[in-house]
Amino acid sequence: MTNFGKRSIPPTVMVIFGASGDLTSRKLMPALFNLSVDKLLPERFFLIGYGRKSASNEHFREILKKSLSAHSRRPIEENAWNSLAPGISFHNGAYDDPTSFEALKSKIEGIEESVGEPVQTIFYLSTPPSGFLPILENLGNSGLARLHHNTPSASKVIVEKPFGRDLESARELNQMINRRFAESQVFRIDHYLGKETVQSLLVQRFANSIFEPVWNRNYVSCVQITVSENLGVGSRAGYYDRSGALRDMIQNHVMQLLALTTMEPPSSLDPEAIRDEKVKALQAIKPLSLGNANAEVVRGVYTEGLVGGEKVIGYHEEEGVPSSSFTETYTALSLQLDNWRWKGVPFYIRSGKRLKQKVSEIVVQFTRPPAILFGENSNRPLSPNLLTIRIQPDEGVSLSLNSKTPGLETKLQPVNLSFGYDTTFGSNTPEAYERLILDSMVGDGTLFIRGDEAEQSWGLLSPVLESWHTMAGHGLEKYSAGTWGPLAADKLLLQRGHEWITNK
Ligand code: BG6
Repeated sequence: MTNFGKRSIPPTVMVIFGASGDLTSRKLMPALFNLSVDKLLPERFFLIGYGRKSASNEHFREILKKSLSAHSRRPIEENAWNSLAPGISFHNGAYDDPTSFEALKSKIEGIEESVGEPVQTIFYLSTPPSGFLPILENLGNSGLARLHHNTPSASKVIVEKPFGRDLESARELNQMINRRFAESQVFRIDHYLGKETVQSLLVQRFANSIFEPVWNRNYVSCVQITVSENLGVGSRAGYYDRSGALRDMIQNHVMQLLALTTMEPPSSLDPEAIRDEKVKALQAIKPLSLGNANAEVVRGVYTEGLVGGEKVIGYHEEEGVPSSSFTETYTALSLQLDNWRWKGVPFYIRSGKRLKQKVSEIVVQFTRPPAILFGENSNRPLSPNLLTIRIQPDEGVSLSLNSKTPGLETKLQPVNLSFGYDTTFGSNTPEAYERLILDSMVGDGTLFIRGDEAEQSWGLLSPVLESWHTMAGHGLEKYSAGTWGPLAADKLLLQRGHEWITNK
């Protein structure tokens, strides 16, 4: 992974578009602050909030400081804040107004003059997607996109999700970006890739020799990836109802987990080598079978229910959700990879809101041992070994093994070998955004999505969205909040001889 110790970060200006938004206060500012506490920001670091609502520099700083008290993983350290605050300013401007961008350019040039050496500028696109086009156009026309082109201080652009709504819009967005920025300057965020446990997936796979020989169709009977949440749509109905679980979670976070689980060993840790292998894994996924008895896709929407003992309302009763909405809050898919390693192994993936519990995990279920010595005449067949990679919460890895229970009879019971991050390394690990922002400053794209990865994932999923659009509400299953989702998702696995492990 990135060894930022070996690469230095030039003086940096970060311009956040959408600076008054939720993401800036909940994630970006806390990440920058914690990087500053850890002395990982460049010595000369400047933050410019770009927004349509006018605010003074002081007011902007105050808002950011308040957000730290609410969202930083560490309490505010006055020293760190005092070293960060003088470099923070607000720039009032519209996204489609060339003069605001000319003024921004002058501001950046002024900073550069005071620093006395080339400064890299990172543009963080954290606006609703409708803001992307005018911003990119103006970054291009003003020359901001090409500042210090082809040098280590070249401008960079970080693009927040959602990256398009379907294959066509993702392609358009890629073209729009690549007209102004070279791919090496582009950092498409998927915050799951910044999670510590996701980063260590490749380490577990490729820094241990015991997994590789069994990581294939000969020993794996299925792989399950669950990314569930117990929260509902909250105050985000405006965004979520236009999105749904497939666009919001599966297309990006879950498909990335799948790619990392299934990819071949890269030839090096070079970002392109890793991303090439991820693209190949995504390319191997067979197109989905839709809308027939053998359908490989389930979608559902939550109705009222009990979550953690508390009564909660259904999706259609949430504020801002139209009663006529067909948006899915749950999706499960059964996927197949048509390649040498994985031919015939089902990959079950699912994600949903208002499920029983918040958990992100990957479970690799191995083939059962032959029931010759043990489990021969028993009604219960031998349990398969399970390798569970817990992305969150309770981050860690466990491996279930069959063991003999103590006593005179030979009875078997699955037991767990388990490793937990907290108990081994202590808590308070960096947040995903800390890692990702740092990597973008260093110019390391390993933990970001390349344009072709995004398109590959949309290419698989766009037909699903199209078929749902045609079917309107037909086939949209219901599930009570606080359960593990629609029964149809259980059937999806049962028909294929499996069951969801996490539900047990
Ligand atoms: C975001 C989605 O990308 O990820 C949200 O837009 C979701 O709907 C969130 O709640 C989940 O992230 P995490 O890190 O809490 O698992």
